[in-house]
Amino acid sequence: MAAKKIIAVIGSTGNQGGSVARIFLNDPKLKNKWTVRAITRDITKEAAKKLESQGAELFAADINDGKSLAKAFSGAAAVFAVTNYWETMSKEREEHQGRRIVDAAKDAQVQHFIYSSLIDVAKATHGNLSNVYHFDSKATVEQYARDLGIPATFFQPGFFMSNIPGQLLSQEAPDKPWTLSIPTSGTAPFPLFDAETDTGKFVKAIVLKRDELLGKRVLGATAYKTPAEILNDFKATFPNAGKDAQFFSVPHELFKAGLKGRGLPEFAAEELLENFRLMDEGGYYAGEKLDWSLSILEDKPTTWTEYMKAAQPFLGLN
Ligand SMILES: NC(=O)c1ccc[n+]([C@@H]2O[C@H](COP(=O)([O-])OP(=O)(O)OC[C@H]3O[C@@H](n4cnc5c(N)ncnc54)[C@H](OP(=O)(O)O)[C@@H]3O)[C@@H](O)[C@H]2O)c1
Repeated sequence: MAAKKIIAVIGSTGNQGGSVARIFLNDPKLKNKWTVRAITRDITKEAAKKLESQGAELFAADINDGKSLAKAFSGAAAVFAVTNYWETMSKEREEHQGRRIVDAAKDAQVQHFIYSSLIDVAKATHGNLSNVYHFDSKATVEQYARDLGIPATFFQPGFFMSNIPGQLLSQEAPDKPWTLSIPTSGTAPFPLFDAETDTGKFVKAIVLKRDELLGKRVLGATAYKTPAEILNDFKATFPNAGKDAQFFSVPHELFKAGLKGRGLPEFAAEELLENFRLMDEGGYYAGEKLDWSLSILEDKPTTWTEYMKAAQPFLGLN
């Protein structure tokens, strides 16, 4: 039997990378052909140990350190890489990390580099929304990989469904109505995505269809839903809890004040506001449809209704 190929996964202890690691460890089409090299700074953490118990090789590396990346990618046929802007809240840091990852993938002659990217919002909105750093920095890294000409596919995760239950859709107190509070119109399209369950489904398809998908962008989302639809689905799923549920289009300044009150610096509050404004003013994917990206999948992505039924903050609702 031919030796198994290695997929090195950066972010393996997190939402997207964890999903990729799990599908390569468990999927009948992948598990006999691939082994997972799960990269983390801390191989003793619980999420890492859990992957190891499922058959992953744990590998300690830091994406700030090119030397450790060189070792982590050695012999790997494929790499899936996530960078986490929110840990440092620095565009420069995320770009630096991304470039080091791309350089290491090139040096290790990785045959398929898959990067979790996003659109360049400043460019797509002609400078109207110029502060969505965590999108623009990923787009810069994507461009860097394209310029170096490495064999790559770019995965663009949608708006995480996990942002909604108990956060954007919550109750002020147990006897108060469930309220969806978002600083957009009720008709803004959100590309909803179950990152923990579905990143692996998209990356599986990207790897299985490698030759066809080199150089392409794959949009990771199940469907576009507006706040009105998100709320209507909540009401339909939980008629009792949903009977008084409402949508509150949060005024922009109030939204920012709320974030700053929770300790976020001004620039990051403005960044998140512009991130939401993008849904109304240009579109999360600059208006691109999801049909083609969905057509490459072999496994059905999670619907918003399915997600709600399993979401911890909604447990016990009817
Ligand atoms: N929330 C949304 O709606 C949304 C939508 C689209 C994109 N995103 C993007 O998603 C990204 C976060 O992805 P996620 O949610 O999948 O991750 P996550 O669950 O927050 O986990 C972060 C992962 O990155 C790894 N990591 C961070 N710094 C590292 C370093 N210096 N060296 C090695 N590994 C490092 C962590 O590994 P260890 O800690 O184990 O080392 C961990 O596995 C953000 O950049 C965000 O912009 C979010």
